[in-house]
Amino acid sequence: MRSRSDLSPGAHVGSAWHDEPGDELPPDPVVREPGVTEPGGAEPGSFAPLALHLATERLVLTAQTDDDAAWMAELLTARDDGRTWTTDDALDKIATMRQTIASLGIGVLVLRRRPAGEPLGYCGLVVGRSTVAEPEVAYELLPWAHGHGYATEAARAVVDAAFATGRTRLWATIRPWNAPSLRVAQKLGFRAQRVATDDDGAVIWHVLDAPEAGRRL
Ligand SMILES: CC(C)(COP(=O)(O)OP(=O)(O)OC[C@H]1O[C@@H](n2cnc3c(N)ncnc32)[C@H](O)[C@@H]1OP(=O)(O)O)[C@@H](O)C(=O)NCCC(=O)NCCS
Repeated sequence: MRSRSDLSPGAHVGSAWHDEPGDELPPDPVVREPGVTEPGGAEPGSFAPLALHLATERLVLTAQTDDDAAWMAELLTARDDGRTWTTDDALDKIATMRQTIASLGIGVLVLRRRPAGEPLGYCGLVVGRSTVAEPEVAYELLPWAHGHGYATEAARAVVDAAFATGRTRLWATIRPWNAPSLRVAQKLGFRAQRVATDDDGAVIWHVLDAPEAGRRL
């Protein structure tokens, strides 16, 4: 069963953690308020802001605007958690994202198909279960847009842009049943690192280190 917490950025407080001995620990799974110092001493201002305009062969990624509210409501309602999102709900979410980008320098972008620019979904960086310094890559597409490689193509651009901010490690937390998302993470080069459990079951933490970070070790 997919729960809303699987897909909602920044709403993962209070999980139960079951670490295996010798595990490389991911960041403290507490969502921090903007501006609060990260465990490694990195504050949001330690990194360049995520680029808010990215282009790939088939896609353009841009910041959300209020004009995106109608299809965002459709996308969020398509989750099988039983909630119906109105355009006003989506407008609130877009406003919150705007604040997040302003305060943290990370957020999600809209995927638009070239050349016409129709929206396909979103992809970007979120704190999620992780931290500002080591954020999660998030992606969610409208149902009709699945299965064309768009999430992978967009997320590749986001990963490159994330490392260009000066970050050296990214995470993706994915439920074991979410085969398409697991596959996207695999195609991006993420490796499964550990399994945690929260109220909704298992979450597989996937890690991706910047290529330069690996060379420095
Ligand atoms: C996850 C999601 C964004 C993927 O989008 P997408 O554009 O279809 O992804 P891509 O086409 O780039 O890649 C999907 C891969 O999963 C594979 N896949 C799809 N369904 C699968 C299944 N049931 N079992 C195994 N693999 C599957 C595809 O074949 C493809 O791999 P391939 O390129 O090797 O053939 C989309 O399914 C989605 O929006 N899901 C709902 C939101 C969500 O779960 N977000 C992630 C939260 S962690």
